[in-house]
Amino acid sequence: MKNILVTGGLGYIGSHTVVELYNKGYNPIVLDDKSNSEKSVIDSLKKLTKEDLIVLDVDIKNINSLRENLTKINIDGVIHFAAYKSVGESVNNPLKYYSNNITGIINILMIMQDLNINNFIFSSSCTVYGETNQVPIGEFHPVVEAMSPYGNTKQIGEEIIKDLVSSTDFKAYSLRYFNPIGAHGSGVIGELAYGVPNHLVPYLTQVANGTRGGLNVFGNDYNTIDGTCIRDYIHVVDLAKAHIYALDKLLISKEGRIYDVYNLGTGKGTSVLELISAFEKVNKIKIPYNIVERRSGDVEQAFADVTKANKELNWFAKLSIEDALKSAWKWQSYYDKKQKYK
Ligand code: UD1
Repeated sequence: MKNILVTGGLGYIGSHTVVELYNKGYNPIVLDDKSNSEKSVIDSLKKLTKEDLIVLDVDIKNINSLRENLTKINIDGVIHFAAYKSVGESVNNPLKYYSNNITGIINILMIMQDLNINNFIFSSSCTVYGETNQVPIGEFHPVVEAMSPYGNTKQIGEEIIKDLVSSTDFKAYSLRYFNPIGAHGSGVIGELAYGVPNHLVPYLTQVANGTRGGLNVFGNDYNTIDGTCIRDYIHVVDLAKAHIYALDKLLISKEGRIYDVYNLGTGKGTSVLELISAFEKVNKIKIPYNIVERRSGDVEQAFADVTKANKELNWFAKLSIEDALKSAWKWQSYYDKKQKYK
């Protein structure tokens, strides 16, 4: 059984990946500083995987603690999620983002070199393509000047890996996510949203549970089917599975110096209004909404060309938007009930 370290394994995409690793016969080991998660995520993960799941409480910025913890374990590969991810916060507090996200990736790569661990998967984002209306977006699309410090940390992360691969026998893929939504089918893990959610689906589920009065739809005067923005919403379970396909490919490859990037999306665009209506239909809940001003920085359309991941990783997104919205609501309901009886 191969041991795979998952940094940020208690986060949204990380936790779902831990479950899929386990389902595919890997032994996931979680490393997380719990800065954006709750203890209950560990309980849920243990239920979905195994009671003796290892969870290392380590701040990735602390290289001594990283070394101390990781030298004790035989690790075959690393999937690196641990990073801050709020675009708005990164604009207001860039040093927090550069410090955590850049120090984090450098530290984990340095320890990997020391311990001779050569397989690395990096959690990147379609944000690296910046503002583009050229859809579908393929991997050949140029990486442009970053639109935020958060986006810049993803670009810099990719550059660091590329440089490392060209200097030594190291194998890595950067996976560029489009818009992950939804939750595990059990409803016991999902996207935690503290305060006012920035992303559409967590906001939607908080309107559905009555926490927020209504959804603000940011603009309906875009050049799209109904005037609202188009995104490529991918079920988080499909996204998590893609990591296993990528890891399988990396691990079987005997050559060193491998680096590549893959877009992960469905290849299909959905508008904000289409998403709201799918949520209403599948969960039988009315969502009140208002059309408001455009949000600055929003691009009109962004959806992926996923041919490369389909062909080279043999991975396909299989779950629907409806599956995702049903599971997102199941997760929100589970979370609300848990808070109530806490
Ligand atoms: C956001 C990030 C992006 C990141 C991506 C995936 C920003 C500006 N961009 O993308 O860098 O790669 O998540 O994690 O944060 N919307 C509403 N009302 C709302 C919330 C959103 O109408 O209350 C609309 C937005 O205008 C957009 C769509 O819903 O058209 C999706 O928004 P969101 O979930 O925030 O994701 P992105 O902006 O696509």
